[in-house]
Amino acid sequence: MTSNEVRKKYIDFFVKRGHVEIPPAPLVLENDPTTLFTSSGMQPLVPYLMGEPHPKGKRLVNSQPSIRVQDIEEVGDNRHMTFFEMLGNWSLGDYFKAEQLPWIWEFLTKELVLPKDRLWVSIFEGSKEVPRDEESANIWKKLGVPESKIFYYPAEKNWWSRSGTPEEMPTGEIGGPDSEVFYEFAQVKHDLRFGDKCHPNCDCGRFLEIANSVFIQYRKGKDGKLEDLPQKNVDFGGGLERIVTAVNNDPDNFNIDLFQGFIKEVEKVSDIPYGKNPGGDRSYRIVADHLRASVMLISSGVLPSNKGQGYVLRRLVRRCVFHISKIKGSTKLPVIRNLDKFEYPLKLKSWSEISSVIDDEANKFSKTIDRGLRLVGKISPFGLFQTYGFPLELIEEALAEKGQKVDKNVFKKEFEKHQERSRTASKGMFKGGLGGHSETEIKYHTATHLLHQALRNVLGEHIHQAGSNITAERLRFDFTHPSKLTDEEIEKVEGEINKKIDENLKVTREKMPKEKALKEGALAFFPERYPDITSVYTIGPLDNSYSKELCGGPHVAYTRELGRVKIERQESVAQGVRRIYAVLE
Ligand code: SER
Repeated sequence: MTSNEVRKKYIDFFVKRGHVEIPPAPLVLENDPTTLFTSSGMQPLVPYLMGEPHPKGKRLVNSQPSIRVQDIEEVGDNRHMTFFEMLGNWSLGDYFKAEQLPWIWEFLTKELVLPKDRLWVSIFEGSKEVPRDEESANIWKKLGVPESKIFYYPAEKNWWSRSGTPEEMPTGEIGGPDSEVFYEFAQVKHDLRFGDKCHPNCDCGRFLEIANSVFIQYRKGKDGKLEDLPQKNVDFGGGLERIVTAVNNDPDNFNIDLFQGFIKEVEKVSDIPYGKNPGGDRSYRIVADHLRASVMLISSGVLPSNKGQGYVLRRLVRRCVFHISKIKGSTKLPVIRNLDKFEYPLKLKSWSEISSVIDDEANKFSKTIDRGLRLVGKISPFGLFQTYGFPLELIEEALAEKGQKVDKNVFKKEFEKHQERSRTASKGMFKGGLGGHSETEIKYHTATHLLHQALRNVLGEHIHQAGSNITAERLRFDFTHPSKLTDEEIEKVEGEINKKIDENLKVTREKMPKEKALKEGALAFFPERYPDITSVYTIGPLDNSYSKELCGGPHVAYTRELGRVKIERQESVAQGVRRIYAVLE
C-alpha cells in the first residue's frame, strides 16, 4: 500500500463516521511567536478541546504536517524522523473511549489488514490523581486483544499533554491518559542491550508505536491539581510514515515510498546502494530525513539563520553536508527529483527554488568546515560545536586526524548543559502557546498590532509584517520598509500608539469566513495559511476600527491595559526589511 492510499483510507474511514476533514495548520506559525513549529495535530485545536465550539462540528479529521526536533540526535536509526505527517481524528466532547478504540482497531485490522496477532497495546497505569484506565483495557479485551499483549505504564509513557506528565503541565495546560497501539516486527529479535525483557515500549526495534488515542479530559488548575474539563475529548495521532512501515511489515521506515525518492538520490551521489555501504545506513537516513524536512521548511517560507526556525533549518542542512561527506567524501548534496510525485498536505516549492537555499547554506558551511578545521586543537571541541555547528562525529574525526582525542565526557557534559538550555527555551515557547500565554506576552501581542497599524499610518501602506517575536521582556517586529526611520518618524509612531492606548479602545475577537475578513480589509500577510473560518481581532469600534488583523490571539480586552509603549531601537534585517524592538513601561 502506498502512503497516499493509507492517508486516503484513514480520512475516508473517519469521514464515513461523521467527521469533517479540516485543513492542516501551517507547519511554521509565522504569526504565532510562541512556538517554533506545529508538532501535533491537536496544537491548533486547543481552544476547541477546551470547550469553544468548532465551526466544523464535534468530529474532525486531518493529516497534519509536523516537525519534532527534540529527537534530532536519534535520527539515523530505522524509525526516527524530524518531519512527519500525523493522521489525526478528534472528538470535541462527543464520542469517547467506547467508540475510539474499536474504530482504531477496525481501521488497523480491516482497512489496513494488519494481522491482529502483531498488535499490542498500552494503557495508563494510574497515578495519585487519576485512576488506572481499566475502561480502555476492557474495551481492548472485548476486541480480542489477549491480556498478555496489554501493558500498563506510568505517566512518562501513557499520559499526553504538550508539556509532558501531569507534574510538568503548567497551569491551564490540557491533557489526559492515552492508550497506544504498537506493531510487532516478529522478524526482529530482542536485543538484550535494551533490557532483559522486551515489551511494547522497549527501544530494541521489535515494536513500533503506530497509534495514540489521548483522552483529553483534564486541565491543570491554579492550585496545581488536575481539574475536569467541561467536556471529554478524544485526540488521536498516528504517524503516517510509521503506519505505512507497519503495513509493509518492514522495520525500516526509510524503505517506505515517501523516503525512496530521497534515498535513491543519496545512492546516486554515493554510487553505493542503501543497505550495502560498509559504513552503515545511518548517514543515508540522516540525509534523507534532513533533506525532506528542509524541503518542508523552505516550502513553508523558512530561511537559514541563527535563531528559531531558521536555526533548525541551518542545522538540518549542515548535518546533511557532513553526512554526505561521510558517505562520499565530497560535500555535494543530492538533487531531489519528482518532488511533485507525492501528495503532501503542504504545498511544496519547486526543487530549483528549494535547492538555491540549500546550496547557499551548504556552500557557507563547506567554507566554515575549512575555517573550523584550522582551529582544531586551538579551541575546545565544544567551542567548535557551538560556534561552527560541527557535529561531534566531525569533531572527533578532525581531531583524530590531527592526532588528538576528544574527551567525550567533557563534551557530553557541555552538550547536555546546552541541550537543557535549548529545551528550557523551547518549552518556554511552547508553554506560551494557545493554552498558556503570560499576561505580559499577551500585552506585547496587542502592542504589536498597534505598532503594525501605526507604522502603516505614519510610513505608508507598503509596510507589511515580515516577522514577529515576543518575549516577556520585549516585542520585536520586522516589516518591509526601504530605509532607516528618522527620529521624528519613530516619535510619531510611538505617539500614535500611546494615543490609541489612552483612548482605551476595545479589542474584539470575531470568528468569520476568511473571505469576509479579507473583504473587510483585515490585514493578513499569509492569507493562505489561515483556515476557512478564521478569527479576526479588531481594535476600536467594529464599524470604525483602528486595526483589524487575522490572528489566533490572545489579546488584552482594552488597550489601556498596555500602559506605555516605548520603541527602544531599530535595525536592518535584510535589504528592505527593518526591525523594531519595543518595550512596555
Ligand atoms: N497529541 C497526541 C500526539 O501528538 C495524539 O494526537 O501523540
